[in-house]
This record gives sequence, C-alpha cells and structure tokens, in this order.
Amino acid sequence: MSIFEWDDSFALNIPDIDEQHQRLISMISDLEAAVREGTGGLIISYVLQELIRYIAIHFEDEERLMLTHGFPGLGGHRQEHDFFVSRVKHIKENFRDGDIMSKETLDFLKEWISCHIKGTDQIYAAFIKAENR
Ligand SMILES: [Fe+2]
Repeated sequence: MSIFEWDDSFALNIPDIDEQHQRLISMISDLEAAVREGTGGLIISYVLQELIRYIAIHFEDEERLMLTHGFPGLGGHRQEHDFFVSRVKHIKENFRDGDIMSKETLDFLKEWISCHIKGTDQIYAAFIKAENR
C-alpha cells in the first residue's frame, strides 16, 4: 500500500502554507495507519478531532492570506473549505456512532486534500505570486 506523503508536487512555494499542508497530509497518513493497525476507536476519534481542529486553523490562515492579497476567488475557495469541514465532522460523528473507518472514507480524505492543494490552492498561490512580481 502506498503511503500518503507530501512531495514537491504539493508545493505552493509559500513556506508557512506548505508546512501546514505537510502537517495535514501527515495527520491523514497517521489516521490511515491507525485504522490499518487496528488502533482503538478512542485514538482514532482523537486523531479525527485533531484533524478538525487543525483544518480550522489552516483554512482560516489561507482565507486570511487570500483576503490580504485581494484574491477574487475567495468566496468559492471558502465554500470548498466549508464543504470539507462539514464532511470531516460528519465522518467523526458517524465513527462515534459505531461506523467503521472505511477505505472509501480514507480515500475521500486523501483525494480531497490532494485535489484541493494541487488544484484550488495552486490558483490562489499563482495569483499571489503574480501580484508580488
Ligand atoms: Fe485551500
């Protein structure tokens, strides 16, 4: 099984944000490892809670950055963030109610983060870079 990890293809070349993305990816990777190793539900719930806490901080930082630079796509970008936050909260609630953490759920988390960073985030990063030139 391939390990979900950060590589240069995720780089926005905005150091603070790249660092946060690395942390996010490693949190999802930890979650996957915990599920794979049959770690207890309490720990998985804790990791999910930490993920929810961290994405709130990270998304807020990104949105502040976009606002500071007058990025016109902020509204749509924020909607994507809000969608992901509500999905992860849902996943945590379902897990608490006795759901298992399925491969589909883990794949959803990995795919969403990958597509978001490599697609949506690259757009604001390019805007900021062009502005700074
Ligand atoms: Fe984003």
